[in-house]
Amino acid sequence: MVLISGSGTNLQALMDASADEAYGAEVVAVGADRDGIEGLARARRAGVPTFVVKLGDHPSRAEWDEALCAAIAAHRPDFVVSAGFMKILGPQVLQAFSVVNTHPALLPSFPGAHAVSESLAYGVRVTGCTVHLIDAGVDTGPVIAQETVPVEDGDDEETLHERIKIVERRLLVEVVGRMARYGWTVTGRHARLGRPED
Ligand code: GRF
Repeated sequence: MVLISGSGTNLQALMDASADEAYGAEVVAVGADRDGIEGLARARRAGVPTFVVKLGDHPSRAEWDEALCAAIAAHRPDFVVSAGFMKILGPQVLQAFSVVNTHPALLPSFPGAHAVSESLAYGVRVTGCTVHLIDAGVDTGPVIAQETVPVEDGDDEETLHERIKIVERRLLVEVVGRMARYGWTVTGRHARLGRPED
């Protein structure tokens, strides 16, 4: 299942890919931390079950973590994909599920919620995206895949993020499909997808 907080174009790419039986993965549900986002509308249009678990509806972060964990568990996913989910996942979720995240920068550079604007402000000439497993830190888990994206003269945050997202959606779809079909292994900081390149 997929966790989102915004437009859901990565989610859309995963739902489109899962329409092909050979892809090997299915989006069983979509969870969000807020209402009224385009990503939830995308899921509903595709007939995928959705749920919203808002931090503000719970007296503590621990109780939000517990409620989110229960909402995810109800759909019995093999693993969870965080695609633009803008909350730090708590220990209950991370102990119960493997969560793969996509980040619009080449970790460990520019972790956190403002990676694209910070990369631009820094003046990097090459950025990219990272698909990684989530651990207890913020954008610090084992890297599964990365791909570079050039920064063009005249880029602003929107144009650069859009160029990153084109690569990111393709990378995430590829990684999630292989995880679903062949599994993965983690040895220390090294995550490896199953079944070597065909
Ligand atoms: C993605 O670039 C993701 O890496 C970042 O937020 C964006 C979400 O985009 N955390 P979308 O909602 O999938 O269109």
